[in-house]
Amino acid sequence: GGAFLGLGLVVGLLVLSWFRRKRRAEGPHPGERAGWTVVLAGGVALALAVVITVFIASVNVLKVTEAPAASQTRLTIHVIGHQWWWEVRYPGTTAVTANEIHIPVATPVNLVATTADVIHSFWVPELNRKIDTIPDEWNRIELYADETGAYRGQCAEYCGLQHAHMGILVIAQPQAQFRAWLARQEKPGTAPASALQRAGERAFLTGPCQSCHTIRGTSASGYVGPDLTHLAGRSTLAALTIANDPAHLAAWIRDSQAVKPGNQMPEFRLPAAKLRALVAYLEHLK
Ligand code: CUA
Repeated sequence: GGAFLGLGLVVGLLVLSWFRRKRRAEGPHPGERAGWTVVLAGGVALALAVVITVFIASVNVLKVTEAPAASQTRLTIHVIGHQWWWEVRYPGTTAVTANEIHIPVATPVNLVATTADVIHSFWVPELNRKIDTIPDEWNRIELYADETGAYRGQCAEYCGLQHAHMGILVIAQPQAQFRAWLARQEKPGTAPASALQRAGERAFLTGPCQSCHTIRGTSASGYVGPDLTHLAGRSTLAALTIANDPAHLAAWIRDSQAVKPGNQMPEFRLPAAKLRALVAYLEHLK
């Protein structure tokens, strides 16, 4: 409103001066000194005063985006950027997940972020500003969701080939639901329940998968890729690139390079039976 008022005033004066100039002869005008006073007072001094006042006022408002002191929040979450996914840890618990952060609604959460490789930027626009993830440094921000729901976020610092496929989801849940989710994440992976799933577990633990991925409760303890202990509880794969369902998971394991070129998982042209068993086992890890 203020800006339009200012614009209206300036345009009005311009139009007025245009008409008045036409009526006058060329040459120096008697009122020129007074004119300069108006220009300096209204165009420089007043403008500076307004800009500085607005700046000071907005700096005070912007303070709300600062991270709270560590003791002020009841929950701290660690986020570690990787090319190209997000590792998510809940300190004080054994819960480790990826790309989908669950938080309790209407609760200030202290989010602390760093990176395992290059600089990324953690950004969930609806919840707060962005923070860079920097090697050997921990940057903090407050996450506060006043309504339940899923909030889409995105890596906001160019970090290589699949920077665009480095999405993040923050899921704000009622307190009780969040507690139940966290308790589930702390548990080891569900034991296979069928012959097919047992075959899948065997394939996982004896093949290349276990060298990069962890499934808590088994011998798989790799750290290169996401923790898969409760993979089936996530709604997406590959940092929100594809949906988490058997068809997409099979396509991902068969040739993840076709889905997300450059990612660290090599293509495994597995026999169809082995692939089917692996998918059955992984989609059972709720
Ligand atoms: Cu990570 Cu861009």
